[in-house]
Amino acid sequence: MAEKFYITTPIYYPSNKLTLGNCYTTVICDAITRYNKMLGSDVFYLTGTDEHGQKIAGKAKDAGKTEMEYLNEIIADAKDLWKLLNINYDRFIRTTDEDHVKVAQHVFTELYNKGYIYKSGYKGKYCVPCESFWTESQLIDGKCPDCGRPVIDQEEETYFFKLSQFSDKLLKLYQDNPEFLQPQSRVNEMVNNFIKPGLSDLCVSRTSVKWGIPVPFDTNHTIYVWIDALTNYLTGIGYLSDDKSFKKWWPADVHIIGKEIVRFHAIIWPAMLMALDLPLPKKVFGHGWLLFGGDKLSKSKNVDSVECVDPRLLAPRYSADAVRYILLREIPFGSDGNYSTETFLTRINSDLANNYGNLVSRTLSMLKKYNASVVPTARVENETSKDLQTIVKLEAENAKRHMQNLDCSKALASIFAIFDKANKYIEVTEPYRLAKDESKKAELDSVLRNLLEAIRIGTIHLSAFLPDVSTKVLDILGVEAKLTDDNFYALKDGKVLEPCPILFPRLDIPKELEELAKLNKQD
Ligand code: MSP
Repeated sequence: MAEKFYITTPIYYPSNKLTLGNCYTTVICDAITRYNKMLGSDVFYLTGTDEHGQKIAGKAKDAGKTEMEYLNEIIADAKDLWKLLNINYDRFIRTTDEDHVKVAQHVFTELYNKGYIYKSGYKGKYCVPCESFWTESQLIDGKCPDCGRPVIDQEEETYFFKLSQFSDKLLKLYQDNPEFLQPQSRVNEMVNNFIKPGLSDLCVSRTSVKWGIPVPFDTNHTIYVWIDALTNYLTGIGYLSDDKSFKKWWPADVHIIGKEIVRFHAIIWPAMLMALDLPLPKKVFGHGWLLFGGDKLSKSKNVDSVECVDPRLLAPRYSADAVRYILLREIPFGSDGNYSTETFLTRINSDLANNYGNLVSRTLSMLKKYNASVVPTARVENETSKDLQTIVKLEAENAKRHMQNLDCSKALASIFAIFDKANKYIEVTEPYRLAKDESKKAELDSVLRNLLEAIRIGTIHLSAFLPDVSTKVLDILGVEAKLTDDNFYALKDGKVLEPCPILFPRLDIPKELEELAKLNKQD
């Protein structure tokens, strides 16, 4: 039976339209999903939206809409965006979904019945217009960090989750399972910044927030943030509604999240699951941020004026594959990395148009010219061809290994090393020179065949990352995207190959930058 693999993104706040930053995690999870499927795994990919809370209610009110009207528009846009970027999720969960409301309420009640939740009071700094509590340290110059207005001392009755009881269990979890939280530096952060100084109990309900899931046994309260948000990972695969599915998929193989919410996934979430006697996720991966001019594209900041960062504009103009490529390739996985439009356009030209696109079109046009587009059978073994085969095989294995570590950026570097090598192989073998000498026909055919095989193998790996362009090329070659064979000579001898359309037109970068600046202003 195929191995199961359950992967999740965070559920995003739909208080505004989703951003390129949100696309980062979603595209990574999509590439990992596709790659694992090619390896023969049975994969479930969950993404969705985190829809409750004061901020959403306020936004809806400002827009003169009901919460659901406001949310439905943003969710429709998010789903369109995922379609535009070829995201192949299995479920888009909304925390307003009926089955999720039941799960969040059930979990809250369970934790209460087991003695992990108790009622007490919450004291804090309260901003009346924003209806938000803040801690002393969150205030900016003693004022509300959201609106800058003065805050008052206020006490509210709330329920608490006994997080403080879990310190030792969490330390043991990290010790016994070095795989649980990655990269390793995040473990040190959790231990030194949160667990060692002592965990406080967690506020899990509010009476002042009306747009939320009611606490079932005390309906003056709504469930506050994390019990509602984190349990989406259970609902998404049928907890309480489809036992068979839940048993099949849980525990999650990996939660991929941004580093700012590692604390919730590596401390609160395992503590809640331990309290519920449910198995823990196998891995939490906290990736770094995509930075824009050194800044995180945060949900509250508008950096569109600095860079053109709207994927809804970039994908139709440069292709979904190009947007996916920059997100998957540019930032070392686990670290922060800078995004700039110029890097994006430069990568399209250098990697996609020159390295890959040109290799494919050059090879197919030589095949047409020198062998009537027929896949040659010739196999002349020599040092150069052996060297090509060795590197292709090695880099294909490297790509697989990097993907076991979820590292799309390094996997893509390995795949592009295959194309680099194939381009160098053309330079070294000089097929145009061989074509001038009748006696070298077998050698020429063999060069063409080897190029086609390198393209086939590299493109199969590439298809998890850039599905559109890979499908085009694999269709021409007449092969399926299966990672079963990284050896040469799997193409069908004698097959006639169609010509290749231009895969990535070369861009005039200064002109594009100018155009994008204009489009940005119109936005
Ligand atoms: N709703 C919570 C998550 C609950 S999960 C049970 C939330 N939502 S969010 O809308 O703020 O999304 C944050 C996530 O979006 C990050 O963790 C990350 O996955 C992604 N990113 C948003 N901006 C990003 C960057 N600039 N760079 C990388 N990822 C970013 O937090």
